[in-house]
Amino acid sequence: MNGPPPQAWLNALLVLVEALQRGLLSLWHGLGLSGDSHGQPAWPWARRVAGETLLIDLGLARQVGLSLCALAVAGLAVALALAWRRRRGALLAAGALALVAAPWPGASLLLVPAAPTSFHTSPARFSVDTIALGARVYAQHCAACHGTDGRGEGPLAAGLAVWPPTLASPLLARRADGELFWHVLAGMRDRLGQSSMPAFRDRLGDDEAWAVIDYMKVLSAGSDSAGNWPVPLPLPEMTVRCGDAAPVPLSAWRGGQRVRLVAVDSASALPLDDPRFLTVLLTPDGRPPARVPRFRAGCTAASAHAWQVLATISGQAPARLAGTQLLADRAGWLRARGTPGRPWSDADLVCVSGPEAGTQRTPAPVADGLTALLLRIDAEPVRFVKGGFIH
Ligand code: HEC
Repeated sequence: MNGPPPQAWLNALLVLVEALQRGLLSLWHGLGLSGDSHGQPAWPWARRVAGETLLIDLGLARQVGLSLCALAVAGLAVALALAWRRRRGALLAAGALALVAAPWPGASLLLVPAAPTSFHTSPARFSVDTIALGARVYAQHCAACHGTDGRGEGPLAAGLAVWPPTLASPLLARRADGELFWHVLAGMRDRLGQSSMPAFRDRLGDDEAWAVIDYMKVLSAGSDSAGNWPVPLPLPEMTVRCGDAAPVPLSAWRGGQRVRLVAVDSASALPLDDPRFLTVLLTPDGRPPARVPRFRAGCTAASAHAWQVLATISGQAPARLAGTQLLADRAGWLRARGTPGRPWSDADLVCVSGPEAGTQRTPAPVADGLTALLLRIDAEPVRFVKGGFIH
């Protein structure tokens, strides 16, 4: 039997389980049964469903899926029984049978400890300015243990009972943002109850904690030299200036189109405009180039931090960034990184996963590598689910 690939239904199940929990939280909060924590509705229970376990335990995921179906059948049976009196007995019996026959999963496997902020969403908009704030917080408070490159090998790391995790791993994509936020502010304990990660609630404001989480994601991309990012990154938000027009946010200006970011310095030739994507120039100081010849791209990132942030994402020293390009797909995910002086190819993809990861396809019968790359990016959209699928 050829069922759908496990990713498809598992992805849908993870999204459904997340939505059900969020729905429950809104209902509870709406009824006034739970309060707020750090400016958003607080998760009132000590446990939540472990999406991360469902991802690796297909048997458990199947049990959860079937049990949810049974609940839906029972709910439908009750609704029909209320509306349709003649078959009431049979309908209620069918509903009860579905509930009895469902393979209910054990709570100990299904539930894991939760924090009041488990379901919080980051108010930081992944903008170059918040990422730059996060970089300052990270250098001051976190690098000593987590390492300037995020690989967990800072000068203090060797003296700790628990080694800090490396960001060159899917950790930040698998964990809910709200739980990362909680761990940064409240700290963490090891199995023996000893403090393993210090608490920062007295030293960092909420906005700084959210910003440093965004920065760690950026750092995780730069930590990977082979080109397959452990955490997919959206195109960072920045202000863009085109000619004499007033500066606009990139997200508003791009309107769902592909974007190419190109780092240029005073020695670089400006790239040609290309109808396949919008081109945004990044300059070291955020100022537009002095003269833009005809047919050359002239829109510039006006945010002074954009250069530094792009350098971290690309894993490059800022002084060597000129010529580097990043491509974002129509959904706003960064997908490929171009190296100066090398033609585009599949090897430039930074966000691939599953059996396709790292595969170099035989080149499609098109003349240039960039077209082939764009076709592949369009054909393989990112299916990222926080806490679930990575790409
Ligand atoms: C004294 C060393 C130390 C410092 C300073 C430190 N950390 Fe950690 N951090 C750790 C250790 C050790 C762990 C692993 C804890 C564990 O798994 O029990 C950790 C874990 C983490 C995790 C993983 C959380 C998870 O859900 O698994 C994040 C995120 C993190 N730290 C962020 C930060 C940030 C942000 C800062 C700075 C504001 C920081 N850390 C400062 C030692 C440190």
